[in-house]
Amino acid sequence: MSGTMAPPSDALVFFGATGDLAHKKVFPALQAMVKRGHLDVPVIGVAKAGWDLDQLKARARHSLEAHGGVDGVAFDKLCALLRYVDGDYADPATFDLLRQTLGSAKRPLHYLAIPTSLSSTVVGQLGRSGCARGGRVVAEKPFGRDLASAQALNRSLLAVFPEPDVFRIDHYLGKEAVQNLLYFRFSNSLFEPIWNRNYIDSVQITMAESVGVEGRGSFYDQTGAVRDVIENHLLQVTACLAMDAPLRGHPEAMRDEKARVLEAVTPLGPDSVVRGQFRGYREEPGVAFDSQIETFAAVRLQIDNWRWAGVPFYIRAGKCLPVSCTEVLVELKAPPCAAFGERMEHPNYVRFRLGPDVAIALGVRSKAPGEAMVGQEVELLATRGIGVEMAAYERLLGDAMRGDPTLFAREDAIEAEWRIVDAILTSATPPHEYQPGTWGPVEADRLIEHPGGWANPFDTRTVS
Ligand code: BG6
Repeated sequence: MSGTMAPPSDALVFFGATGDLAHKKVFPALQAMVKRGHLDVPVIGVAKAGWDLDQLKARARHSLEAHGGVDGVAFDKLCALLRYVDGDYADPATFDLLRQTLGSAKRPLHYLAIPTSLSSTVVGQLGRSGCARGGRVVAEKPFGRDLASAQALNRSLLAVFPEPDVFRIDHYLGKEAVQNLLYFRFSNSLFEPIWNRNYIDSVQITMAESVGVEGRGSFYDQTGAVRDVIENHLLQVTACLAMDAPLRGHPEAMRDEKARVLEAVTPLGPDSVVRGQFRGYREEPGVAFDSQIETFAAVRLQIDNWRWAGVPFYIRAGKCLPVSCTEVLVELKAPPCAAFGERMEHPNYVRFRLGPDVAIALGVRSKAPGEAMVGQEVELLATRGIGVEMAAYERLLGDAMRGDPTLFAREDAIEAEWRIVDAILTSATPPHEYQPGTWGPVEADRLIEHPGGWANPFDTRTVS
């Protein structure tokens, strides 16, 4: 995004090459980068699976068949760039072999598509073996498990890589829809005068997924909804919605404002969260039979600053919900008096659909045809798109290869995010059970004071 003079990376190493994240997101991003002519350097997968390069290529093909399709020409080019190093992350020999495989590369990018608990070990080995020299590192979310471990992880990253070479990926920041949310807010003069406590009644953010844990039971059972998506993706979305306008021309301005608003959020306490677990979760492979991990969480946030004091931000995320959809609803206050005697449950609103499709819409009322002064809700659609031009992982890996940090999370924002959720991570209250295919436990309804309750994406009020 911001033009940068740093030389591009001359090799791309990805750890966790045989894992779930590589299968779902990394291979599709790599093929897309090759197709666009953005990737023409050695690509080295690292994992401990006892595999050889042909098995990794077969895995890449399988990944693409399942996620977006194989492009014959781009896939062959990717295979020609692909190398594979098999070995344990704690074994120095793995990294000596990696150094050898890097050959003449002087500025490798190391992408840690691995559980956060392994990151410090890998980074230490990268430093010891000389693989880190001149290179960059991309760390995956969640960064640590809580504030203290996030700080420890940060120390181990900075012991080996200087801050400008550390990229903390939160793929929500690379989503077209999240970029458009920022663009829409700060490129229209219409919104800024009303974007505050005087006009806005409440904000809801829902990240619903109809899928369960999809074979990721052992990862998920160490993580839960708060660590998996609320602490990172949804608090970053909150920051995009609530931040002040960035100062023009200052490369860190966007990240400064996000960190500032996250620091103004009041840390969550037990009264501001409801956790749920879908029935059947404990039978998933890799999940403890008595697991207390939440697959659903709803929280009520307060931002303690002049713009937002008193405006509740309601955030919900869950697996096995009725639909897959991420949506933000910013609801305005009702008109001061009901000129036509109507009771309005939902006055004006701005709706940002962040996925699977992209939409920005304004909800207004207009008179229903007929004699009576009775209204109806109408949506004015500002933007709508199904396909995305560039998937988040492709955009972000490309940015990291070029050394552009703009769309990566900064450590101060990450630590502010952990401060917000830290107290609820250790909460001993068992999660409420909910039936798969429902909107989570009914207890979540007690968190929301809005007269209309939670707004479920795809309900009859909003356009699908
Ligand atoms: C990941 C989470 O970060 O985001 C997953 O680990 C979740 O549990 C995924 O399914 C959702 O991403 P997207 O881009 O499909 O909304």
